[in-house]
Amino acid sequence: MINRLKLIIEKISWRITKFIYGKESLISQMVITNEKIVTKKLRPTRGCYLHFGAGIPSVKAFYDGVKQFNKNLNYNMYIFDTFVGPPMNFDTNQKFSGNIKSNTEYGNLWNYGGVDKFKKDLMKSKVDLNFVTLIPGEVQETTKNFLIPNNEDIGIVYIDLGSKSYDSVLCVLEFLKPHLKNFTLFFFDDIHSHAGNPHSGALGALNAFNNKYKNECGIVKCPTFSGRKVTPDKILVDEVYWSWVK
Ligand SMILES: C[S@@+](CC[C@H](N)C(=O)[O-])C[C@H]1O[C@@H](n2cnc3c(N)ncnc32)[C@H](O)[C@@H]1O
Repeated sequence: MINRLKLIIEKISWRITKFIYGKESLISQMVITNEKIVTKKLRPTRGCYLHFGAGIPSVKAFYDGVKQFNKNLNYNMYIFDTFVGPPMNFDTNQKFSGNIKSNTEYGNLWNYGGVDKFKKDLMKSKVDLNFVTLIPGEVQETTKNFLIPNNEDIGIVYIDLGSKSYDSVLCVLEFLKPHLKNFTLFFFDDIHSHAGNPHSGALGALNAFNNKYKNECGIVKCPTFSGRKVTPDKILVDEVYWSWVK
């Protein structure tokens, strides 16, 4: 019942935002940029979409972003999450932010009731499940043996593992390293969570990754999006990156 209500509220706010601003979402703009990258032959194929840290709003936003660009277009989507809330055995050295007071409160916030329930909710949100693969479990485990089907390139990566996510983001970046190509696009939701502290959270993980591999590859701000307030409903400045490889 609560989930249904949440979905209805999300749908209404999405429609109101679109009506007021008539603008593409950030994700839709990333899809457009990815398509341009392929058209300009900067990367050979559009690639697939990898999403770490799921939620109905963010998965649906990507799906709708693709359809907004071209209703006949589909991306293969691989969605990584526990689907039962964040694991509590990682990143415990970082403080909670906002109104969240305890581990239990933090865990409950993202408990989607398991992978089957999440699938049903995606269906209710009219996401075509033929193109979606859900990979349940902690990314520290699930990325260990995951192979991208048909060795497809990666076009867009979305990382939103929460603000206490240094270890998890670093593990995801290590998993992605062999797949990086020039112009693979990244969205980091929590990149500004620690007031620019270069050692904490997603930014800390990104800096550690870039420093470790500075002679081979890196993930840097995508100039197309830098310094721009790219969505009407949220301030999403400087959260879009892309990769380079030697
Ligand atoms: C901030 S929420 C994602 C919100 C979502 N993007 C949305 O827009 O609704 C973070 C998600 O990452 C998941 N998560 C955090 N750490 C994880 C880990 N190490 N492995 C798998 N999932 C994790 C949490 O369970 C939660 O679902």
